[in-house]
Amino acid sequence: MADEADRLQPELWAPSAETLETCLVKDYDALRNQAAADPLGFWEREAKELAWFEPWDKVLEESNPPFFKWFVGGKTNVVLNALDRHQNTPVRNKLAYIWEGEDGTVRTMSFHALNREVCRFANVLKSMGVNKGDRVTIYLPRVLELPIAMLATAKIGAVHSVVYGGFSVEALAERIQDSESKVLITADGGFMRGKPVPLKQIADEALRRSGTVEHVIVVKRAGLAVSMEVGRDYWYDELMGLPFARNPATHGTCKTEVMDAEDPLFLLYTSGTTGKPKGIMHTHGGYQVGISATMKYAFDVRAEDRWWCAADPGWITGHSYIVYAPLMLGVTSIIYEGAPTYPYPDRWWRIVEKYGVNILYAAPTAIRGLMRFGEAWVNRHDLSTLRLLGSVGEPINPEAWRWYHRVIGGGRCPIIDTWWQTETGAFMITPVPSLPLKPGSATKPFPGILAEVVDEAGQPVAPGEEGKLVITRPWPAMLRGIHRDPDRYVKQYWSTYPGKYLTGDSARVDADGYFWIIGRVDDVIKVSGYRLGTAEIESALVSHAAVSEAAAIGVPHELKGNVIHGFVILREGFVPGPGLVEELSAHVAREVGPIARPEKIEIVDKLPKTRSGKIMRRVLKARAMGQPEGDLSTLED
Ligand code: WTA
Repeated sequence: MADEADRLQPELWAPSAETLETCLVKDYDALRNQAAADPLGFWEREAKELAWFEPWDKVLEESNPPFFKWFVGGKTNVVLNALDRHQNTPVRNKLAYIWEGEDGTVRTMSFHALNREVCRFANVLKSMGVNKGDRVTIYLPRVLELPIAMLATAKIGAVHSVVYGGFSVEALAERIQDSESKVLITADGGFMRGKPVPLKQIADEALRRSGTVEHVIVVKRAGLAVSMEVGRDYWYDELMGLPFARNPATHGTCKTEVMDAEDPLFLLYTSGTTGKPKGIMHTHGGYQVGISATMKYAFDVRAEDRWWCAADPGWITGHSYIVYAPLMLGVTSIIYEGAPTYPYPDRWWRIVEKYGVNILYAAPTAIRGLMRFGEAWVNRHDLSTLRLLGSVGEPINPEAWRWYHRVIGGGRCPIIDTWWQTETGAFMITPVPSLPLKPGSATKPFPGILAEVVDEAGQPVAPGEEGKLVITRPWPAMLRGIHRDPDRYVKQYWSTYPGKYLTGDSARVDADGYFWIIGRVDDVIKVSGYRLGTAEIESALVSHAAVSEAAAIGVPHELKGNVIHGFVILREGFVPGPGLVEELSAHVAREVGPIARPEKIEIVDKLPKTRSGKIMRRVLKARAMGQPEGDLSTLED
C-alpha cells in the first residue's frame, strides 16, 4: 500500500524559493523557540496588535486551574476588531464577503455594508429584549445573514449558539434547551444539491420540544411556505426595514458593547465522550488573539488576498476562519452556499477561477470526494491564482495530499494541514508556508503552544511511538468551560493527566519533531469531517418505538473518513427486516440530521457489555473491521 510506505518513509516537500522569499515567517523554528522561551510575551505582542477599549493588567491568571483567564482586566469586543476599526481605513471599501448561491446568484458586501447590516440587526435584537449575556440560537443555511447574525449578537454582548443547518429536530431542540436561548434566528429553508431544506419547519418542531425561545426571526431564502406564529415569529426583512433598526437617533449605528476580555462570546455545541452534546464556551479577549495570530502566520494572509474557507460557518472552522479572523485581518472571503458537486463536479474549481481565489482551506473528505471525478474537471479551469492550500477536520491521507498538491495546487502551493478542535478555538499544530512538509503530518505546534504525546502514565513516549495527544500549557483561544457544567469541563479535559489538556486524539511524533495525528480515541466519530458522538446516535435510535437498546460505532471509510454502523436490539413484537432497518436509518436522519444517518444497521439479540453494563464498542468495531477482538476479560459473557 502506497500510504503505508509513506508512513514508514515520508517524503519531504521543501518550500519553493519564491515561497521562502515572500512569506511572512521565514524561520518557523526560530519563532517557535522564541515563543517557547516566553509564551506570555509572544501572546501579549499579538494582543497588542488588536484594538482594546482598555488594556489588560495581567496576561494570564492561573491561580485556579483549569479555570484560566487571559488578558485579565482588558476590555474589548471581537466586533471592535472585526468591523469597527476598519470603518476609518481603506478596508471600509473592500469586500468583506463574496457570496455565491448554489443557484449562481452572487451577493457581495463591503466592510462598510456589513457593518451597516450588523448595526441594524443589532438594533433589532435589542428591540426584542436581547441583553448582554443572553443566548441567541442561530440555525441558518450558508447565507450572509449567518455572519451578520453572529456579529450583531456579539456586538451587543449577547452570546450566540450556532446550530449547523444540517442538524435536525432533536439536535436543535437539545441545543436550544441547554443554552436557554431567548431568540432563534432561522430561515424558511436553505438549498442543498438543488433541493430546499425546510429549516423553519424543523425549527417549529424543535420549539415544541424546548421551552425558552420568545421570538423567532425568519430569513427568506428558499421561498418555502412556512407557518408564522403571531407574536412569536417575524420576517428578518420586515424587521430590518423598521425605523428602530435604522435608529435615526444614532444615524443607523449601534454601539459596540464594552466587554470584559473573559466575557462569553459564543457557545458551540459539540459531541463528546458521553451523554448530550456540550456547549463549549469561548470568550472575547483570548479568542480574538488566538484566531488572528494563527491565521496571519499559518496562512500568511496578505491584504490583497481572496480567502476561501469552504467549511460551514456553523462549525468552529467557520466561526474562527470565515467569520471572525478574516474580518479582523481585513481580508475578502468567499462563501459558497451549496454542494461541491452541484450541478457538476467542477463547481469549486469554477469558483476559484471566477473569483481568483488565492487560498483555499478545505476538508480532506471534500478533496477525496472531488478526486474521484478525475483531473479533467479540474484542468478545464485556471487555478493559477492559488498560492496556498489548507486542510482541516481529519488526517489527510498522503494520496489525497499529493493529489491536492499536484492537481489543485499545480505543485507550487504548500498545504497547510491545521490540527485543532472546537475546544481549542484556533490552530494548535500547523505548518507555515516556509516549513518543509511531510504529506499526512500537521507538522509542529504553533508558537506558544506546547503539545506532547504521552503514555497511560502521562509520560512522553519515544519518537515514533503512538500515545495520547495532550497540550501542556494554557493558550489564549482555549475553551473556558462547558456551559452549565464546570465539573464536566474539569473531568473531561483536565483530570486524566493533571495539569494537561486531554485532546481525545492519539498521535505520534517522529524523530524530526513532526506530529502525526492518528485519530480519536474516545467515542467521537468523524463523518466527512463532521463531529458526531456515539451517544447522540444511540439516543436517536432508542427514541424509536421498535428499539430497546442500541450501540453506534465509527468504521473507517475511504471517502468519508468514517461511517456510522448501528446495532440495535428490538422490542418485543417488532419484526426484523429491511423495511425496519431503512425506517431506523431515516429516523436517525430526521432526529439528528442527514449527516448522522447510519450506513448500516444490524439487528442483534445481544450487545457485548462489561459486567457493569457498559457497551464495549471496541469489540463491535473490531468485529465490523474483521480484526482481533482484543482483551475480552471484562466481557459479561
Ligand atoms: C480532528 C475541527 C487530523 C481531530 C477543527 C480533532 C484533525 C477533531 C485535524 C476536532 C487535522 C481536526 N488532522 N485530525 N488537521 N483537524 N482533526 O471539534 O480528531 O470538529 O480532535 O474541530 O478533528 O473536531 P472539531
